[in-house]
Amino acid sequence: MNIVEAKEKIFEKGFLDIETDVHLDLFAAIENLKKKKNAIVLAHYYQEPDIQDVADYIGDSLGLAQKAAQTDADMIVFAGVHFMAETAKILNPSKKVLLPDLKAGCSLADSAPAPLFKRFKEQHPDHLVISYINCSAEIKALSDIICTSSNAEKIIESVPAEQPIIFAPDKNLGAYLNKKTGRNMVLWNGACMVHEIFSLEKITKLKIRHPKAKLIAHPECEEAVLNKADYIGSTTQLLKYTQTDTAQEYIVATETGILHQMQQSTPHKTFIPAPPNNSCACNDCPHMKLNTLEKLYLCMEYELPELTMKEDLRIAAKQPIDRMLAISKAAGLIG
Ligand code: 13P
Ligand code: SF4
Repeated sequence: MNIVEAKEKIFEKGFLDIETDVHLDLFAAIENLKKKKNAIVLAHYYQEPDIQDVADYIGDSLGLAQKAAQTDADMIVFAGVHFMAETAKILNPSKKVLLPDLKAGCSLADSAPAPLFKRFKEQHPDHLVISYINCSAEIKALSDIICTSSNAEKIIESVPAEQPIIFAPDKNLGAYLNKKTGRNMVLWNGACMVHEIFSLEKITKLKIRHPKAKLIAHPECEEAVLNKADYIGSTTQLLKYTQTDTAQEYIVATETGILHQMQQSTPHKTFIPAPPNNSCACNDCPHMKLNTLEKLYLCMEYELPELTMKEDLRIAAKQPIDRMLAISKAAGLIG
């Protein structure tokens, strides 16, 4: 297939579904393409294990944004979801940013459409807007500071106590942060489909079967789950906790992809995915899991699908990200 045909396929379907040669060693082929094209593969912890194994850097949203801001590669291949690749593009206008599947979106980002959010913001004219990085570039452009779950407390603390704040789009993270910081931020009513699916009843039953297991949870989870957690943190913080904590068993209330790194760094420990409230595999993020090793290889080979953005939107969205990176740097925070 030539590049024109590949492009037509992408426009038709939004991703590359060209079949690869079954005899092709995709790991070796991706390594070759990295060297040939001076490309870096950045992967989020929720990616499938094969993608994590081939990535140059695996991290949480803060770590990935920091890495994207520092890289001198010509091509950034983002194994994550759309808002993450957008952030990389916002920080790197002259680099080629690729996302193996352009349809890899995010239910949380989708829960805040920019026109509605603009109206919401107008109803609170005195408020400063802090937005979680899981939002579109349009929402970032309407925000004053961006945060991630790794740095949200520090970002909020950087704002004078008397300054009213809108926090968007995650109501669960927002409520958790209101509790932690003593603020009364106005919350946008958005949520992540993966972190809302955990069943407290099933977790409680699991804890009876595994009495020594600690419950660790991402702050995007609902309050009822967070109230029972022994530790709450971003994906990187959860991973670090399991490396330094003395427990041998953990019930992990976040997307299952993180278990790969947990299992690799402490193979003698047991990690149990927190069960969803039905029998589906809903604690796998369907957006993150749209990326596959085949699509990663094909997007590097054909340099498609590429993430592009209008320059005025990029400039407007960059300012609140730069503020986040500066506050994080001053606080010594690394994702
Ligand atoms: P972090 O990796 O920053 O904790 O975010 C989790 C998440 O839901 C990413 O989509
Ligand atoms: Fe979005 Fe949730 Fe998937 Fe993260 S896990 S990409 S917040 S839908």
